[in-house]
Amino acid sequence: MKILFIGDVVGSPGRDMVKEYLPKLKSKYKPTFTIVNGENAAGGKGITGKIYNALLQAGAQVVTLGNHTWDNKDIFDCIDKSEYLIRPANFPEGTPGRGITYVTYQGIHMAVINLQGRTFLPAIDCPFRAADHLIEHAKKKASVIFVDFHAEATSEKQAMGWYLDGRVTAVVGTHTHVQTADNRILPNGTAYITDVGMTGPYDGILGVEREAVIKRFMTSLPVRFEVTSGRTQLNGVVIDVDVSSGRAKKIQPIMINDDKPYFE
Ligand SMILES: [Fe+2]
Ligand SMILES: [Fe+2]
Repeated sequence: MKILFIGDVVGSPGRDMVKEYLPKLKSKYKPTFTIVNGENAAGGKGITGKIYNALLQAGAQVVTLGNHTWDNKDIFDCIDKSEYLIRPANFPEGTPGRGITYVTYQGIHMAVINLQGRTFLPAIDCPFRAADHLIEHAKKKASVIFVDFHAEATSEKQAMGWYLDGRVTAVVGTHTHVQTADNRILPNGTAYITDVGMTGPYDGILGVEREAVIKRFMTSLPVRFEVTSGRTQLNGVVIDVDVSSGRAKKIQPIMINDDKPYFE
């Protein structure tokens, strides 16, 4: 069986790419499960209940989040009642929502876990210990365990990949919005990539208007970051899984943009 994962969807350009290409990717790869990171889906900042439902409508079974989880206040109305919308599990106790969810299709049970790193990001609970705790729980219910590790530092992401090798099906990194070329199967059967990349504007800086980002770097003045327009891209991965063992067999990157056009 296969799992399709799509990296951080940024604003309406990202949502339009999902609407256009998710059906095509589904007919090409025939994934059993599709997971989308939606932390930037609402204008680059967070997600709304309406957008979450639209992503499910477009073909996602689970939507993961990250450090932008709380940026749109609509999240507080929808997160507790949205079973397949998960935020990093190692947010401090008492925060709304959940960090793990389960999906079942054709008798295959999959757990999806969202975690967030602590290097160059706000101080939260330990993602490694949170992973231990959740995997213990997930193992009783699911043969396939997928982890979206939302983190900045490549070292912290590699550490999580190696720490969980053989205990989960996949550790995929999100948050940097730039796809890395280190996709591989670790020795004990865990699919790994440091970052899947993003889905949305292709000519911005991480999806944001270039001028504002350059001004920020050159002056350190506060600037307003807006999702930019123009050409678009989609980044993701497809993972082949041996269901009986829960081990990954293959991880392939997906990159669609004007320099790498989509082929059937
Ligand atoms: Fe992001
Ligand atoms: Fe992020």
